[in-house]
Amino acid sequence: MLIFRHIEHMRSQLQPSRKLGQRISLVPTMGNLHEGHISLIKQAKAQSDIVVCSIFVNSLQFMLIEEWDKYPRTFEADCRKLREVGCDYLFAPGDDEMYPNGLATQSRVVCPSMTDILCGRSRPGHFEGVTTVVSKLFNIIQPDESVFGLKDFQQISVIRRMVEDMCLPIKVHGGPICRESDGLAMSSRNAFIKSNERPKVKVLKESLFEVGNCLSKGDKDFCGLEQQASERIEQLGFKVDYISVRNSLTLEEAAIDDQDLIVLGAMYTKSARLIDNCILRLDNTNGIGR
Ligand code: PAF
Repeated sequence: MLIFRHIEHMRSQLQPSRKLGQRISLVPTMGNLHEGHISLIKQAKAQSDIVVCSIFVNSLQFMLIEEWDKYPRTFEADCRKLREVGCDYLFAPGDDEMYPNGLATQSRVVCPSMTDILCGRSRPGHFEGVTTVVSKLFNIIQPDESVFGLKDFQQISVIRRMVEDMCLPIKVHGGPICRESDGLAMSSRNAFIKSNERPKVKVLKESLFEVGNCLSKGDKDFCGLEQQASERIEQLGFKVDYISVRNSLTLEEAAIDDQDLIVLGAMYTKSARLIDNCILRLDNTNGIGR
């Protein structure tokens, strides 16, 4: 696997492949790679000729500089994992390469829909940071395909909308959530969970899937179900940010006759903010397809 720190070098490496008509996939990450990321690389490999992974801890999407500071940096281990899975190129630019004029005057990509709800409500500016860096990465790599984890469902929805709005010729794919043996969604943030809280955090996934089960059986009391799930989580001492049943295509609050649904949730442990979701499609017989 070749590693590139500079935009120009990365671009010239990709040029011959592009001329040959090879399909290029990009998997953007912030590093600290776990099985979830590796499954995205595998997915990218299966659908293209060249796979580029990027590692860049994007300060623009963090609310507090302390959060950015404490984001785990595990570059050597990440490279090992990427080599093992057969990633072709790693693009790992520094801050000066990505934001040479500083953050304050950096041009931004703003997606006005879907960004001030759910996670965007408690993390103002976060999605602007994401769409800005992802569009820069898209411009640098010019991939045909890109793969993002479905755990960050709102993120991938916003990116899909940005791609559509900006007429970018890039297919955005979602990779399924990878889970620990107790069901906890894999995430770099899991490293921050205190050991006494670790056995209890599976409650987030369990509560969301319980709502999913009720919906699949025809329960349409969205508010009641959200309330029950929140109470179950709070009983274990966690603070709920939101539990919300939404239309998975628009992220609008679910309507009675919606068939494409998603139950999204975010909660705080003492030292980590965790998110998860349960996607379901109701068919005419109220069956569940996940
Ligand atoms: O999901 C992430 O790791 C980040 O938000 C992303 C997409 C790499 C942008 O910095």
